[in-house]
Amino acid sequence: MSLASSTGSVHVRAPGKINVYLGVGGRDDDGYHALATVFQAVSLYEDVIARHDDGFSLTVSGVEDVASVPLDDRNLAMRAAKLLAAATEYPGGVALEIRKSVPVAGGMGGGSADAAAALVACDALWGTGLSPARLHDLAARLGADVPFALHGGTAVGTGRGDHLNPALARGRFDWILVTSDQGLSTPVVYQRLDLLREEHGALADDPPMSLDVPIPVLQALRAGDPVQLAEGLENDLQTAAVYERPDLEDVIRQGVAAGALQGIVSGSGPTVALLCPDPETAQDVQTSLREAGLDPLHVHGPVAGARILA
Ligand code: C5P
Repeated sequence: MSLASSTGSVHVRAPGKINVYLGVGGRDDDGYHALATVFQAVSLYEDVIARHDDGFSLTVSGVEDVASVPLDDRNLAMRAAKLLAAATEYPGGVALEIRKSVPVAGGMGGGSADAAAALVACDALWGTGLSPARLHDLAARLGADVPFALHGGTAVGTGRGDHLNPALARGRFDWILVTSDQGLSTPVVYQRLDLLREEHGALADDPPMSLDVPIPVLQALRAGDPVQLAEGLENDLQTAAVYERPDLEDVIRQGVAAGALQGIVSGSGPTVALLCPDPETAQDVQTSLREAGLDPLHVHGPVAGARILA
């Protein structure tokens, strides 16, 4: 038995993410879209504590609207624990406690971070000792963003976003995140993109099924240059997210007016990520947006993926 499992509980922390670049191609037969994306893990974390139990149960704290997070098999962390138990033929269960900081349905992969953390926590608690490659396989079966939450850092995702390659990234990037009380549904935003594409003459399956991340984006990350990265920020889901939530464009405008280099909707939104040139400017932007009645958070990236806390 490992040290972790002998203590009776394991505490894992996993980061939320921003899609610095998100190119969306055509839709596959299974309903998923081809992606070329760059993920960056940022310093906003989900904490998952796993304790031995005969059955499977889940508690969640850190959310205002408790009803917004399911506690049954619709919850990705619960599904992760059960998937690991099935894959390893582990006979027992687990009591999972999730302490949330990443916004629910915010486009920052909070549910995916919970799932990644639950996989790592249960693997340690149960002593099932899966290799990183097998954990990655299970993560990819749970959702397109889950493998990245395991790995963290900065990575290029292709396929559905689950084929990962680490990207070289130097230094630290400062972001102001503006969260929303009301979440956006990821499938709804993808469907809206398909509809908008159809309306503009291109059928939903006309866009390419294989995409690349533009070289200047990768160069900017490698150079640790926020000014260059700001020029490359792009999200193909943004038009669809803004269609559902027109106020997001105002938030980006306000952030840039306050000193941010550029802003982008994070993933399927509605969180807006504003890239700042340095920590001091980020603080100024945060103060200014707070005075305007918004709820801005100052985070930085890249940070590590799902990790057991001592
Ligand atoms: O994989 P995940 O559960 O995060 O995806 C949620 C939904 O987002 C999918 O059911 C699908 O509608 C949409 N999606 C997509 N293409 C992707 C990833 C997600 O259409 N590459």
